[in-house]
Amino acid sequence: MPQDAASRLATSGAALTIERVAHRYGNAVALEQISLDVAGGELVSLLGPSGCGKTTLLRIIGGFIEQSAGRVLIQNEPVDHLPANKRTVGIVFQNYALFPHMTVARNIAYGHEARRTPTAEVKARVAEMLALVRLDHLADRLPGALSGGQQQRVALARALAVRPSILLLDEPFAALDKNLRLDMQIEVKRIQRLSGTTTILVTHDQEEALSLSDRIAVLNQGRLEQLAPPTEVYDRPASLFVNTFVGTANVIPGTFVSASGGIGIVDLGGIHITTRAPIAPITPGEAVVVCIRPEHLRIATTGTGLQGTVEMGLPLGATIVHEIRTTTGLSIKTAEPRATGTEPRLPGTAVTLIPTQPEAVGVFRPAA
Ligand SMILES: Nc1ncnc2c1ncn2[C@@H]1O[C@H](COP(=O)(O)OP(=O)(O)OP(=O)(O)O)[C@@H](O)[C@H]1O
Ligand SMILES: [Mg+2]
Repeated sequence: MPQDAASRLATSGAALTIERVAHRYGNAVALEQISLDVAGGELVSLLGPSGCGKTTLLRIIGGFIEQSAGRVLIQNEPVDHLPANKRTVGIVFQNYALFPHMTVARNIAYGHEARRTPTAEVKARVAEMLALVRLDHLADRLPGALSGGQQQRVALARALAVRPSILLLDEPFAALDKNLRLDMQIEVKRIQRLSGTTTILVTHDQEEALSLSDRIAVLNQGRLEQLAPPTEVYDRPASLFVNTFVGTANVIPGTFVSASGGIGIVDLGGIHITTRAPIAPITPGEAVVVCIRPEHLRIATTGTGLQGTVEMGLPLGATIVHEIRTTTGLSIKTAEPRATGTEPRLPGTAVTLIPTQPEAVGVFRPAA
């Protein structure tokens, strides 16, 4: 894109503040008190399983649902009294929601027609948006004659056309096949960087959240479990839920022994392993679980660790995954880089599993 087009696109993204927002549908709690600060130009993902409240929160920000409690502020101004079309937000709904009887160009122009922008200006803006999403050649098509990815780009162009100060995207890539999804993810990131638009991206896809976000807000059953940059969410999950929802983790029951100097000690059936310090204080003797990701377990033949035997070994090209049955009956996964020519260990081989480092082992209270 030429430099002048890029600078015309540039909006300074608005800061977004969500202050103790809660929502009930009838008696059912969809969101407990959620507080979230998003900086201007930041891309924050709302990540969580189906039904955790992602769409509800997004629609509250957009002004499509009135929250039961709490405030939404854009650039430090409360917007709760404003209807959706007065909030300077652009939204791409979970199902795109294009107007089927309008051409691509008219769909993109829609927000401006509703705002009574002068015709010449609308035309210029539509052309700019068509170029941005690379659909110049399809301006006169109806949505029904577009592929899913093209529809998705029209929805994105429509949301961006009004120069939103905040862009809200609800699972915008869910309907796309893998290759197209990757293209569109890169495209959205490019557009977002270029335009500096503050963006909230709803997804239940952890890889998408990890790869695109400045920060990830992990939601579970209407609660915010962690808000942090991707690597921190992965490396230092704030809860058992986050540890198992983002990435894979072996969850092993044990007994808490002690914590001091930033590390913890947990008894796993007679062997002691060192862990990260627990986030909330845990009393010695309490039942806990430790979480260890497959790539953080080393397979040894001697040493102090969990004893087990190989059940299965899978050579996945770049990595080798082993499934190990421990002497206590747990099934544990390991993943290690595979050197050229290496074969998985044979089923029945006795092995010892040793965590690579204490920082790679989380300790939590078991799920209720
Ligand atoms: N209009 C409604 N009336 C009653 N309950 C609703 C309504 N919309 C959503 N819910 C409920 O509120 C909870 C949160 O729904 P929400 O649509 O926000 O979830 P989500 O995280 O977007 O899920 P998904 O990933 O499946 O889109 C769910 O339990 C859902 O059943
Ligand atoms: Mg949803």
